Amino acid sequence: MKKNRVTLWVGLALPVGLALSGYVGASSENTARIINGTQSAEGDWPFMTAMVYKNSDVYNGQFCGATFLGGRYVLTASHCVADLVTSNTYQADAIIGIYDLSNDDEGQRVEIQNIYMHEDYKSSPPQNDVAILELTQEVTETNVELTTSTLTDSLSAGDSLTVMGWGNQSTTSGVFPHQLYQVDVPYVDRSTCQNLGGKYSYVGDDAICAGLEEGGKDSCQGDSGGPIVYNDNGTYKQVGIVSWGIGCAQPNAYGVYTNIAYFSDWIAAKTSGVSYRQRINSSSTEQNVQIDIPLANYGSEIFDVTNFELPTGVTIANNSCSSALNQGESCTVTVNIDRKTAGFTTTQTGTSLTLNILTDQSKASELQIEAFFSSGYTEDASSSDDSGSSDDSGSSDSSDSSDSSSTSTSTSGSSSSGSGGASLGLMMMAMFGLMFRRRQTKQDDSKAARWL
Ligand code: ARG
Repeated sequence: MKKNRVTLWVGLALPVGLALSGYVGASSENTARIINGTQSAEGDWPFMTAMVYKNSDVYNGQFCGATFLGGRYVLTASHCVADLVTSNTYQADAIIGIYDLSNDDEGQRVEIQNIYMHEDYKSSPPQNDVAILELTQEVTETNVELTTSTLTDSLSAGDSLTVMGWGNQSTTSGVFPHQLYQVDVPYVDRSTCQNLGGKYSYVGDDAICAGLEEGGKDSCQGDSGGPIVYNDNGTYKQVGIVSWGIGCAQPNAYGVYTNIAYFSDWIAAKTSGVSYRQRINSSSTEQNVQIDIPLANYGSEIFDVTNFELPTGVTIANNSCSSALNQGESCTVTVNIDRKTAGFTTTQTGTSLTLNILTDQSKASELQIEAFFSSGYTEDASSSDDSGSSDDSGSSDSSDSSDSSSTSTSTSGSSSSGSGGASLGLMMMAMFGLMFRRRQTKQDDSKAARWL
């Protein structure tokens, strides 16, 4: 079906492409692959990872690229996972080391245990567009090497970078390959990129640009989350993550990539072995909701939970994380959230509260956690306390009864969000998550000419 479609398009693309290319201009033009790249050789990019929806075959379920960092971690774009985290059970897997999406037993398919989006991720256009997937197990495939800031700082306009993925090969429809494709694109100065104006004026230190002024070569929808690499004297180093662009391969519209060097501390924190659930969704309609926050230590550095920063309305109900967490250990912090005290009205939906767990781990000292409520609530008859228990958290321990303490609870806290700000932001995020998620079906070209 999609094969026929692809063939059809190849047949049409040459004559029609010529006829149209003169004036299709602004929102779409051009004909090509990854756009205008070549099929990679099998084995060339062993760290290449596909993000694939569950309950779908690999080819049709693939929606983003990613790279394997080693151990239990995968690197991708935040916009790739923004919709996944709205459920406590992530409906996607990572397939590490896959090359041909029609070959089901290639690579290693692994489930995702936790997703870490950048705390300052913004959509439209994407900013701080980086995310780490923590896998349910360690994997022993070949890992990618990441750039250093020294290396990235040394790049100059025109230096050749290579970007790869299973993304759209057409700028005017949806043509998705089975095998991995790659294309070389020159590095572009940030100022040159910003000077394109419009969305490109949002390109900050968190991003780098690559592409040709005249267009023609680019990454495209479906390549997101995948790597752009630089050949550093024979060793490829990942310098960026496919993030966005206006259309694909258009003139004066470079590809924008997450600047990995800029996020090296963030990446180190999220891959340090400190494991936690960053966002917990509840559909409870109770005023008081108990939420389990699972923590674990997969790293060799022993750490303690040292403090909590809780917004108004949030209290610690139970804490099994009050003594040092050794490697391999896990614990649970249970919080009670009184949504009325937190300032939410009964009819507000899509509200969220942010709390921080502080640790003495050298790289991950602040764990920012969001409790998200999709529904409003019914006010408690007995005004203040008493709890209706609620939602899970994916991988929580059954909390042991030993009561908490030793940790002091500073109630200073981060934002509650509620009505305006953050909840609106979250809804926008969810909407964009849907938009970014190009290709419901591979031949769906409705998103192909979008700017993301
Ligand atoms: N946002 C797209 C995705 O989700 C990637 C877009 C890259 N676009 C570009 N012109 N380089 O797959």
